[in-house]
Amino acid sequence: MAQAFARKMANDGFDLVLAGRNTDELDAIRRDLLVRSPSCSVQCLFFDAMDMESHREMIDRLSPLPEVAACFVGSMGDEIAARCDAGALALILRSNFEGPANVLGIVAKRFEDRGSGTIVGISSVAGERGRKTNYIYGSAKAGFTAFLSGLRNQLQSAGVHVVTVLPGFVATKMTSHLSLPPALTAKPEAVASAIAKAIRKETNVIYVKPVWFVIMTIIKAIPESIFKKMSL
Ligand SMILES: NC(=O)c1ccc[n+]([C@@H]2O[C@H](COP(=O)([O-])OP(=O)(O)OC[C@H]3O[C@@H](n4cnc5c(N)ncnc54)[C@H](OP(=O)(O)O)[C@@H]3O)[C@@H](O)[C@H]2O)c1
Repeated sequence: MAQAFARKMANDGFDLVLAGRNTDELDAIRRDLLVRSPSCSVQCLFFDAMDMESHREMIDRLSPLPEVAACFVGSMGDEIAARCDAGALALILRSNFEGPANVLGIVAKRFEDRGSGTIVGISSVAGERGRKTNYIYGSAKAGFTAFLSGLRNQLQSAGVHVVTVLPGFVATKMTSHLSLPPALTAKPEAVASAIAKAIRKETNVIYVKPVWFVIMTIIKAIPESIFKKMSL
């Protein structure tokens, strides 16, 4: 998803800074972007969402401060192990919630001081209701969704906008081992276009495929006494 979004933004004329922990892959993406959009500038920065002490220094290296900061970091981890293993639990909570919240919180303060900017966080419909198959990942995403909502509320008077992205199923590396229903599954390019549109229109929360809004409205309305007996 991040790569598709980078392509979309480069195609739309933005200069880019790519931040990630796999520097060889980042450099390959940078070279690909320069071939596709030769007039844009692309820098790469090392970024490990789990290493929260390093985030401030990474943000200090952004010059100029960007107009848009988008965080696609996330990991499904080992959901079963995370139920009773502190390390597996921490990996899911930190990569989906604490790390993204920490780095975006630092960016948010800089945007607030400047008086402009857009923050984009990729959360998940999994955070809208705890299900037995993925409630650790889901609770991390629920925390991140609440974080983004509060940040939006805090920053609106400062001229800073926050977009929460609830992608539904997307065909990416993360889901490559799953058999996803085509009607409910978006392509990364569709996610990228939906985010670019949300940035332009200052939309607050987006479901990439609108059917997910309907599905989640129904799922959230099911009484807990019934929901606990369901296999969703
Ligand atoms: N695919 C779906 O169906 C779906 C649905 C809802 C929400 N989401 C969310 O969408 C976002 C993007 O996921 P995706 O589907 O595009 O899968 P992906 O290709 O696996 O992207 C996840 C990205 O997070 C990065 N990451 C994980 N831990 C990190 C860390 N500690 N430091 C820095 N980077 C880290 C990964 O980098 P590495 O390459 O270094 O591992 C990878 O680039 C995630 O937040 C995911 O939870 C996905």
